[in-house]
Amino acid sequence: MRMYDLIQKKRDGGVLSDTEINWFIENYVKGEIPDYQVAALCMAIYFRGMTIEETTALTFAVRDSGERLDFSEIHGLRVDKHSTGGVGDKTSLVVAPIVASLGVKVAKMSGRGLGHTGGTIDKLEAIPGFKTDIPVEKFKKIVNEVGIAIVGQNASLAPADKLLYALRDVTATVDSLPLIVSSIMGKKLAADDDCIVLDVKTGSGSFMKTLEKSRELAQTMVEIGKRAGKRMRALITDMGRPLGYAIGNSLEVIEAIHTLQGNGPDDLTELCIALAANILNLAEKGDYKTCENMAKQAIVDGTALKTFADMVAAQGGDPNWIYEPENFPKAKYSYTVTAKESGYITSVDTESYGVASLLLGAGRNTKEDVIDPAAGIYLIAKTGEAVEVGDPIAILYSEKKDNFKAAEERLLKATVIEKTKPEPQPLILDIVE
Ligand code: URA
Repeated sequence: MRMYDLIQKKRDGGVLSDTEINWFIENYVKGEIPDYQVAALCMAIYFRGMTIEETTALTFAVRDSGERLDFSEIHGLRVDKHSTGGVGDKTSLVVAPIVASLGVKVAKMSGRGLGHTGGTIDKLEAIPGFKTDIPVEKFKKIVNEVGIAIVGQNASLAPADKLLYALRDVTATVDSLPLIVSSIMGKKLAADDDCIVLDVKTGSGSFMKTLEKSRELAQTMVEIGKRAGKRMRALITDMGRPLGYAIGNSLEVIEAIHTLQGNGPDDLTELCIALAANILNLAEKGDYKTCENMAKQAIVDGTALKTFADMVAAQGGDPNWIYEPENFPKAKYSYTVTAKESGYITSVDTESYGVASLLLGAGRNTKEDVIDPAAGIYLIAKTGEAVEVGDPIAILYSEKKDNFKAAEERLLKATVIEKTKPEPQPLILDIVE
């Protein structure tokens, strides 16, 4: 088989066979196919797309490119939740403890921030002492004892995705549906869970900017998960505005704790309850309404917060931080961004909000960058709210004063203020079974 022929076939709109896809992934991981040929194939896939059979074969090949985890020693039904990436999306920190406190097991492997989007592992590492690189045996032990553990992706899990992702990142081929599906589901399926609920983001802060594209992404991921024998469901949710008010690692952990305490922002609370109820329902804990009430009750009676604190203790952090989040270290400097005109915030470019947070030190521009856990943005006014000239719309936090100017410019340019109040938009747009 020759890589040249595969590139030519896809370039001309042909369909790659399972054998060709398996051969390509196997040999790419072995180092036998150069990056420039794989880059050409990714670009051909970007333009020509893939059939569901090709996308399934690519996903399974990515899954099988490394170690497959065996969670059979974990007692009980294992569930996972995955977001396709957003700004201010701290739902995993709330949803995972809620469902774990209600008797399903969460053995979660999460990622770091990617581009303008944040990552659960970076957020958890904002908790002093919290370890995300614990050995797999200890990870399983914590899941059995506490019901939940969240760690970084094992280096030997889906190595093909690591190579492909780095290449896509520099060849403008990230936002290709079959490549996103195989990347996300290849990693998810390498872990050994029974049920997976996906939070597929749509809008200006997500990788898929239109509802139509996001629906197609959700349907494809659900279909492939089912083909792999998993119970699957996807919620399509709005990322046309940041979720909650906090963007940045420790700011988001604090907001997640407030949500677990029952004092979270309305949008974040609504989405966390919906995701938790869908996971519990998929895990056959009851009908949807019962599951929704169970999730709400776990917040009211404090069991979800206690489960989060227990996980933090088991993974090396101090649980007192969870009960007293006001003690989290603060950024050295803060700066208030004010409205330059009066009216209603009618829309925001959420991706730019993510980039502004990155410019403050909350994300990475290069792989080597070290994250500043206290850096980020706390929003004062969000889409739909009225502002007058000079009203604060956001507070920026950073270790370096020099970062404020560029972040402020980004934020102001990304915030549209008009005279007419916009119609409220639903947060949960669709559910794909
Ligand atoms: N998240 C991933 O893991 N991969 C993608 O391609 C996009 C988002």
